[in-house]
Amino acid sequence: MQKKWWHEKVAYQIYPKSYCDSNGDGIGDLQGIISKLDYLKELGVDIIWLSPIYCSPLADQGYDISDYYNIDPRFGTMEDMEQLIAEAKKRDMYILMDLVVNHCSDEHEWFRKACEDPDGKYGKYFYIEDARDGKLPCNWRSYFGGSVWEKLPGHEDKYYLHLFHKKQPDLNWENPELREEVYTMINWWLDKGLAGFRIDAIINIKKALPWKDYPADREDGLCSVQYMLKDAVGVGDFLGEMRDRTFKLYDAFTAGEVFNEKEEELPDFIGDNGYFSTMFDFREAVCGTSDKGWYDCKIITPDDYRSCVFESQARVEGVGFLSNIIENHDEPRGVSRYIPERDCCDTSKKMLATLNFMVKGLPFLYQGQEIGMENIKFESIDEVDDISTLDEYQVALKAGLSPEEALKAMGRFSRDNARTPFQWSSEANAGFTTGTPWLRVNPNYPEINLAAQRNDPDSVYQYYRKLIALRKDPEYKDVIVYGTLIPLWEDQTNLMAFYRKSENQTLLVIANYQRDPRTVTLEGGFRKLLLSNLPELTSEGCTITLAGYQAVVLEV
Ligand code: GLC
Ligand code: CA
Repeated sequence: MQKKWWHEKVAYQIYPKSYCDSNGDGIGDLQGIISKLDYLKELGVDIIWLSPIYCSPLADQGYDISDYYNIDPRFGTMEDMEQLIAEAKKRDMYILMDLVVNHCSDEHEWFRKACEDPDGKYGKYFYIEDARDGKLPCNWRSYFGGSVWEKLPGHEDKYYLHLFHKKQPDLNWENPELREEVYTMINWWLDKGLAGFRIDAIINIKKALPWKDYPADREDGLCSVQYMLKDAVGVGDFLGEMRDRTFKLYDAFTAGEVFNEKEEELPDFIGDNGYFSTMFDFREAVCGTSDKGWYDCKIITPDDYRSCVFESQARVEGVGFLSNIIENHDEPRGVSRYIPERDCCDTSKKMLATLNFMVKGLPFLYQGQEIGMENIKFESIDEVDDISTLDEYQVALKAGLSPEEALKAMGRFSRDNARTPFQWSSEANAGFTTGTPWLRVNPNYPEINLAAQRNDPDSVYQYYRKLIALRKDPEYKDVIVYGTLIPLWEDQTNLMAFYRKSENQTLLVIANYQRDPRTVTLEGGFRKLLLSNLPELTSEGCTITLAGYQAVVLEV
């Protein structure tokens, strides 16, 4: 595996709408982000991914783009964006944008023109079909509920495809003219000095054609898009072409949001000369999810968590680099998901952070993770903004859950959990805005906020800083970035341990993933304690006793 400039970095995702509002309109913006660059530098972040800030009706919070060449005025101007890129550069930081090209917005000019003339140039940018004898071309269910087919405005029996929301018409990648448009746009942004992109929902660009039905998997008579994706062959041709025509020319960094890739294609995706630099590891995120919907998702245990991480690690060993996350803007807060509610505290949060940072791959923080932000408790479904949660709520009701039960299930999985404003301080609205925040601030902000943690050496925030410093420590950098991961004690329950080994160094990471203490024996003891999430470590000869949720990094 070739070494790359970004391997030893630390990345951070910003959800701009909820980060920092500079002008009091309740919406986070680019000037707000610029004002926090020094903070991110202090934390130790190198690469920053911004969720979409292009012009958008915000039906799916910017993942529905109506103009790829402009910044939505709610987030700022093109000058602000250029300033952000320049200010980041001054601090040796890199900016990534979100590349959303499986679909655009139904308010994009291309789609408007397609509606005017479905047989013309722009009609061919989309998938537009006639209903044959009143029957839709296929029975796929959109990711956000209902059929993937929606009536083309202004036409009685024409339909367009949308794998996501009906305000997100799919772009037709089979059309070379459309692909050219996309490549031109990507290069236009790279010319502006972006370091690269996070690439949205990209596996979906290849459809299994011709349209066909799959067996219905719910009472609505529809089927999950997953079945189609299993049949779709040839996404690599599009991805390889995109890489060669764009990213490769700039040595750009790309992180793919890839679900459902085929096992044998992994080296094509993230090997040397892969389609992407890296892709996110979603194995824990999807663990326990159900075809029936969010209401049916299982709680994930410490042993599940461990198996997911180790499976992912084994899968990519010698092939490429994963990007490791605890959460993102589509997931609940990781500390609320992977730690039992009654045990969620600073120590367990730091344990999770240790595991996430010490396995191999690029650590990709999500805003607020560094201060241990938690899920919000919804009082009512009216507080929810996210289209996906609103759909899943209906799915839960239809399945027979009471409104209270459905709300509780949404509370566990809602994407809004991660989208509440960043908790900067204990001032009004957590210091996020002087106006009215677009989404309710988590009421726990007086306890969980950056200002309270910044000068507290024992805070979650300061612990993240230590983890980042360890990753960058010249003495340990090599083994942490490139060392092979070897699992240990996998037959034990609630214990996650592994070695990281390079030619001349071995680290041992041990996490006691439970509230009770436990003792482990290390033959040969250890040479040095590099990091612990608690001030004390009890050790005697070859045995060490870890307190509940204690995690340690040892040199052995
Ligand atoms: C990705 C994004 C998600 C969005 C979807 C459609 O999964 O992360 O937020 O809703 O794609 O663009
Ligand atoms: Ca604002």
